[in-house]
Amino acid sequence: MIGIISAMKEEIQVLINQLQNVSLVVKGMRTYYTGTLFNKKVVLVFSRWGKVASAATTTQLINDYSIDEIIFTGVAGAISDNLAIGDVVIGKNLYQHDMDASPLFEKFEIPILKKKFIETKESTKLIEATKLFLDSYSTYINPISAQNFNITSPKVSYGDIASGDQFISSTQKIKQLNKDLPTAICAEMEGAAVAQICYEYQIPFSIIRIISDNANDNATIDFPKFAGTIASNYAFGILKNYFR
Ligand code: ADE
Repeated sequence: MIGIISAMKEEIQVLINQLQNVSLVVKGMRTYYTGTLFNKKVVLVFSRWGKVASAATTTQLINDYSIDEIIFTGVAGAISDNLAIGDVVIGKNLYQHDMDASPLFEKFEIPILKKKFIETKESTKLIEATKLFLDSYSTYINPISAQNFNITSPKVSYGDIASGDQFISSTQKIKQLNKDLPTAICAEMEGAAVAQICYEYQIPFSIIRIISDNANDNATIDFPKFAGTIASNYAFGILKNYFR
């Protein structure tokens, strides 16, 4: 069984619509949708926002279903100049940018785990699936939406992600993140929490992040627009290729 998580329903709505033989279970205010997607047995759930919500949901998934793999899909704000709205980031190392138990532990170190980041394992197949999707994105994303977001030649990057319980919407905060975590290229609110739980339970995981905004003062407008219109079309197209 493959667990697919997003933070918001909008980010997996197209996947929910396509799910076959669906059964629903509600636990802890989350709805778990079990069924078949692209001929694979999956369980879809949106965790709600933030590290606590996503860690709790990931733990519930692992404990209640026979999970072989977890895939998180959602949107993120770019904190690298090399990314544009509509690009895709496949997570490499996942950092909690708001973890700081210094001076007891080094800044960013997860206490007791002795790690400053959680690494994903094998991502080649997901990167290839994303490239394939991006080569034909116009069959999944309607041209007016693409135009509205200025998406012309979206690309995939395999890179580090900074997660924290903060919506990033200022250049000052971006500068701080760039200084603190120079390898991180996008910011979001769940990935590193999902990664930590999967690491602790030894479940393979992947993080897909589609850039919805530039984490600047336009982010509060761009982010909901993107998440509400095309984010789940990306998830659908990428996972269709991945599960083939
Ligand atoms: N998810 C999407 N955009 C984001 C941002 N700017 N900050 C945090 N999480 C995000």
